[in-house]
Amino acid sequence: MKTNIITSIDLGSSTVRCVIADVAHEDGQVRVLGAGIVPSAGMRRGAVVDINDAADAIAAAVERAEQMSGEKVKSAIVSIGGAGIIVKETQGVIAIGRADGEVNEDDVVRVIDAAQAISIPTNNEIIHVIPRSFRLDDQRDIKDPVGLRGVRLEVDAVIVEAPGNHVKNLTSAMERADIGVEDFIIEPLAAAESTLTKKQKELGVVLVNLGASTTSIAVYEEGELIHTSVLPVGSDFITHDIAIGLRTEIDIAERVKFEFGSADMDSVDKKSMIDLSRFDEREKDAVYHHDVLEIIQARLDEIFDLVVKELEKIGKDQLLPAGAVLTGGGAHLPHIVDFAKEKLRLPVSVGQPANLLGVVDHVDDSSYATVVGLLLWALHEGSRGGVHFGTGAMSSFTTGISGISAKIRGTFGKFLP
Ligand SMILES: Nc1ncnc2c1ncn2[C@@H]1O[C@H](COP(=O)(O)OP(=O)(O)OP(=O)(O)O)[C@@H](O)[C@H]1O
Ligand SMILES: [Mg+2]
Repeated sequence: MKTNIITSIDLGSSTVRCVIADVAHEDGQVRVLGAGIVPSAGMRRGAVVDINDAADAIAAAVERAEQMSGEKVKSAIVSIGGAGIIVKETQGVIAIGRADGEVNEDDVVRVIDAAQAISIPTNNEIIHVIPRSFRLDDQRDIKDPVGLRGVRLEVDAVIVEAPGNHVKNLTSAMERADIGVEDFIIEPLAAAESTLTKKQKELGVVLVNLGASTTSIAVYEEGELIHTSVLPVGSDFITHDIAIGLRTEIDIAERVKFEFGSADMDSVDKKSMIDLSRFDEREKDAVYHHDVLEIIQARLDEIFDLVVKELEKIGKDQLLPAGAVLTGGGAHLPHIVDFAKEKLRLPVSVGQPANLLGVVDHVDDSSYATVVGLLLWALHEGSRGGVHFGTGAMSSFTTGISGISAKIRGTFGKFLP
């Protein structure tokens, strides 16, 4: 069976994750060969702030994954997080070139290129252009116009942009770590790729990735992405709040969160105490467990209020039948599902990257949704056939629409021997 080795890197604010996988084309399976997980450095709020430190962390994660897999990594698919990611709706229109009016792949590329040509703030970079539907003369809602006949082809598309500096710094860090960038994928879109089903996307669903310093969302309806956003608050804020509230060090606050944290204030007795000396002998105090949960709840309230606001912005608050799927390290907090249900007024579950083979015990948890999603994105782009074209090396056109794709040159081609 023909296989290919793909590497993905999720440069998070708290952790860098690198996964090397073997992708078997015929059965669409991903076999994990190695994973390297190291603490992050040089990152703040999902963006690179120190290129050298970030490069060292990337190199360390890659080296570990290489050791486990026995493979040498030259390039990888990389996630982009960080605030400042924006979504724009756009349209493109072109005249069909051929005399017989038959639409071909070039026309599809041209019309999406035209959709991309809308004015872009100079400091942003286009990461994805995702077509939603095409119109050929009077015929609307066409998923794949190739082979149809007409005079005027239009497309409705979504453009996802990231701050240009952020993309440049990430590129520099990768260069310094000596790893080429195959593609950039926005973090919540990658996390959605590994955890959401086609049916959920069809019905309407929001992915909520609870990272360390960011919380990112991706909303789908009728199978297509309708919104994505990265909010500048994450689960490390809970740790910081605990450190301030208990007047203790960050490391101790993090351990308190891991061992005693919960999103349900009623889960503990009001009089129950936590003895901080168990974490560090210099700590003399004992604190009320209930007070710790109150601190956690206050920050979670803020995070989920922001998520609700994002849903309100697009008129989807409480209106997504497949509910919310939580990913990221923050989804490990006990009782977070019930808390999220209450806040979002939606069905909620935790998303686990599914259908993996190989050394999956290293990657089958919600914190790995992004890094696994990057691999799946590459795999699915292969069968969907995303096309690279347009304004810069970074810009990529991603077909959210199956069908067009197989007929169009794929990004996946570069993974083929
Ligand atoms: N068991 C747990 N209980 C509570 N919080 C947890 C648990 N495990 C991880 N976390 C929290 O999850 C966060 C890390 O999540 P994740 O690894 O998804 O972040 P990241 O990808 O590095 O950051 P970002 O996506 O914001 O750049 C940290 O704040 C960590 O404290
Ligand atoms: Mg992350």
